[in-house]
Amino acid sequence: MPSTLIAPPSSLPNQDSDYEALISSLALNGWGMVPEFCPSSLVAQLRTEAIGLWQAGNFKPAGTGRGNRFELDDSVRSDWIHWLDPINASNTQLLYFKQMEQLRLELNRSLYLGLFDLESHLAVYNPGDHYHRHLDQFQDSNLRILSCILYLNENWQNDDGGQLLLYDHWQSPTPCQEFLPTGGNLLCFLSARYPHEVLPAKRPRFSLTGWYRTRNPLPAG
Ligand code: OGA
Ligand code: MN
Repeated sequence: MPSTLIAPPSSLPNQDSDYEALISSLALNGWGMVPEFCPSSLVAQLRTEAIGLWQAGNFKPAGTGRGNRFELDDSVRSDWIHWLDPINASNTQLLYFKQMEQLRLELNRSLYLGLFDLESHLAVYNPGDHYHRHLDQFQDSNLRILSCILYLNENWQNDDGGQLLLYDHWQSPTPCQEFLPTGGNLLCFLSARYPHEVLPAKRPRFSLTGWYRTRNPLPAG
């Protein structure tokens, strides 16, 4: 006599994480995008704060490298940046940090990335500013694991320029992916994997870039 079978539930409990698409794309490609990572009200508040900090003279020209390798060269990059300090964050910035912390835990749970902390800066690209093809890891440190760029621009159009281009290799003549800096979108990619560049824009372009770092880097080489 067949034993009585218990019918499976018609649908399993919903185990989808909010970041399921991002996680699969990161696992497969090493990059991923979360459309509307932040609600438009938070994006608008972060942009308003960025404009306030800019007007108060709290941005400085961005350089490359660090320590005795730090260089300012506006033919390489001409944006201006303001580092965020999580200890003295505004309430608006705290909402950003809270969401990035939730994402960090989720990424560690799903992808075992060992992400330990986050460093973030606001960036303003004035019309014509650009950032030449580069990698986000410093030459003397491989602590940065994942680059996450939150865009803060309202109603950005293709014609405005300012695209972020990802390249498969240093020498690739053409990008493998191209992104508009659309407000609320969070673009993530492995910091050591993807050379990238920012094209000049026709209007001021705002972003909030975060790097998740590990505490225990793999040995170089
Ligand atoms: C960076 C960077 C890209 C962007 O700050 O390292 O590549 O789209 N920013 O703002
Ligand atoms: Mn970069």
